[in-house]
Parts: sequence; C-alpha cells; structure tokens
Amino acid sequence: MRIGTKWFKSLALVVGVGVLLAGCGSGQQTSGSGSSGGAGDKVYVVGTDAAYPPFQVLEADSKITGHDIDVMNAIAEAGGFKIEWRNTGWDPLFDGLDKGTVDIGISSITITEDRKKKYDFSDFYFEANQLILVAEDSPVTKLADLKGKKIGVQAATTGEEVVKKAFGDTYEGLKGYDDMPSSVDDFFNGRVDAVVGDNGVIAYYAKKNPGKKFKLIQDESFAKEYYGVMVKKGNTEIMTKINDGLKKIKENGKLQEIYNQYFGNK
Ligand code: ARG
Repeated sequence: MRIGTKWFKSLALVVGVGVLLAGCGSGQQTSGSGSSGGAGDKVYVVGTDAAYPPFQVLEADSKITGHDIDVMNAIAEAGGFKIEWRNTGWDPLFDGLDKGTVDIGISSITITEDRKKKYDFSDFYFEANQLILVAEDSPVTKLADLKGKKIGVQAATTGEEVVKKAFGDTYEGLKGYDDMPSSVDDFFNGRVDAVVGDNGVIAYYAKKNPGKKFKLIQDESFAKEYYGVMVKKGNTEIMTKINDGLKKIKENGKLQEIYNQYFGNK
C-alpha cells in the first residue's frame, strides 16, 4: 500500500524530529559538566561535518568521534556548559548557525577574515596548512605545476580558496566536492589528478592507503591556518564560555593530551 507507507514514513519522520528536538535521539550525544537549575541547563547544539578523519569521524554506530569532538567535549566540561552533537555536513553547518538551529560549529574550521564577517571565532585550538596529494610518479612538485590538471577539493573550504587564488575563480579543472572523502575517492580512482586539503586529513588518507602510490607536497605559498570554534556573530555569551574552557584545557595540558592521542606518534 503505497500511500499508507508514505504516510507512515512521514509520521515516523515527524516523530523522529520530535525525538531529536527532545535531545534524546539515538544519534545524539550529550556531554559537559552537569549543573542544575536555571540557564545552566541549556544544551548547546554543536554542529560538525563528521567526514573529516581524524578530526571528525562518523562511526558505524552513528556515534561521532575524533580530535575535534574530544576538544569540544573538554571545552564544554571545563567551561561548565552542556552540549549535544549534530552531524550537519559542511555547508549546512554554516546555514544552521545562520538560522540558529546550530549554536556552535567545530569542524576543523580555519579562522579566515572572510568568515569573520559573519561569525565569531574562539582562540585557535589547532595549527594546520594545505597539502597537495598527487601520484608518486607525478612530475608535480609545487602548486603551479597543477595548472591544466584536474584538482579535487572540498567546496567552500580553504583548500578550494588556494586553488582559486592560483588558477582563478572559474578554473575549469577545479572539482568541488560536498565532502572530503568523495574527493579522495575520486583521486584514488583516477578521476582527479590531485587533491588539495588540510594536512591532517590528507596525511590520514595517505596513511590509510599504504598500497597506493602517491606523495604529499607542501607549496611554499601555503600559509599557516588556525582552527577555531565558530558561533554566529555577536553570540558573545557562549563565546565567553568557550574561550574560558579552551583557556583552561590549554593550561592544564588536556588539549595537548588530545593532540598526542591523535597525532603523537606520526
Ligand atoms: N580547514 C578547512 C576550512 O576551514 C577545511 C575544513 C573542512 N572541514 C570539514 N569537516 N570538512 O576551510
């Protein structure tokens, strides 16, 4: 019974959304230090694009894990506020902040002047840079050598920005993907000649695919990038708490401990 099934599905969806809003859906994870009564009970929704290992990872049981998840949980704990995780994806994370359905974004987001026009950032919690992934036997040794080649990036990221800066906004060879894994898959399948992206993630995929022959290149034009926690511009109340928590975990060694856990034995 087609209509009946559809009707049932939409009912299930409505019920599902209700459960999500109540904050106890199966994909939800709540954490942070508990405090009872008043404003302390507000649970902030943290959005992330959980397809960015080892920073944000979606596990088989739909639990979100990774470096940034540990960092944000530690910030909330130290800052004394509660959070709940939502795997939004990359573009919808920014939309969610705009619309107010997401309170906080952490997703290896580079602090950029452009983003600062619409969002406020915490102090940085991670230093990164772009890397180029190419075949081991490729003659490419720098970004300029990619001219004329097909380059995969995650759309609307700083990886895309460096490619546009080098070859123009309408560069034909530029392929923007919704998520990072799709660009890397296309590289390993030979559909793009190179991928440009954050070093931690590119290095992760390189390590995961030891049988494949490729190399990693850092162009001298690639500037240092700093990841920050992002909120909608003007949301100073939560930003104060975030920076307070971040300062504490920088001082007590927790941030370093998390770093070592993910990147310590490279
Ligand atoms: N750091 C880069 C940027 O801010 C890429 C971040 C992508 N993060 C993600 N979870 N896909 O543009």
